[in-house]
Amino acid sequence: MTFLITAGPTHEPIDPVRYISNRSSGKMGYAVAEATLDAGHDVILISGPVNLSPPRNTKFISVSTSDEMFEAVHRHADESDVCVLCAAVADYKAAHVSPVKIKKRSAEFSLELIPTRDILHSLGRRQDRKFLLVGFAAETDHLEANATKKLREKNCDIVVANDARIGMETDENELLILFRDGERKKISRASKTFLARELVKIFSNSQQKRLTKKM
Ligand code: CTP
Repeated sequence: MTFLITAGPTHEPIDPVRYISNRSSGKMGYAVAEATLDAGHDVILISGPVNLSPPRNTKFISVSTSDEMFEAVHRHADESDVCVLCAAVADYKAAHVSPVKIKKRSAEFSLELIPTRDILHSLGRRQDRKFLLVGFAAETDHLEANATKKLREKNCDIVVANDARIGMETDENELLILFRDGERKKISRASKTFLARELVKIFSNSQQKRLTKKM
């Protein structure tokens, strides 16, 4: 199988030296990419800016902004059997990007922000998709309720939910996996390497099941 995996944050420019971003390290996405390769599958890794080296033997696509990630995902989604969107895409970007450095002034300053495009949602809306669609949900409160809402609204097959305070910038995580048919699985705190291996097994089994159902 071929897995398309997004990882890391995005950088949304404000001017040539500043951007909006978040604390995502990319570790979970890169761990899923490693585990996918170890299981003998192919990987297309679409990554925002991170301090990690891409695993060897991946088709690696480096992006910076949410728009670049959106385009890259849509260009390659149909080559994949499983799309795993781990990236922490910025939800907003500057309405106007200044071509020159914005100078400091003593007056108050506010920035107009507009929503970015939701990549997961745009894939979920595709009626013709053949790939299994997996989203991630990093929450600080009402984990299950918020993740269930994302599963439904973004029309995913699976949502992997975690507490953002445990998972961000660390090597460990604790996961709650929600499936379209209402099934749920918990994996208690473990290394991202271990969790990634479990996830890859779950994703490839789920895609196999989808395919046999459709035959
Ligand atoms: N996602 C995406 N494109 C965006 C925002 C999010 O593809 N512009 C994907 C993420 O990769 C993840 C899922 O949507 O798989 C959920 O992301 P998250 O940031 O938890 O949720 P949001 O939809 O942004 O909602 P909120 O920030 O309100 O929790």
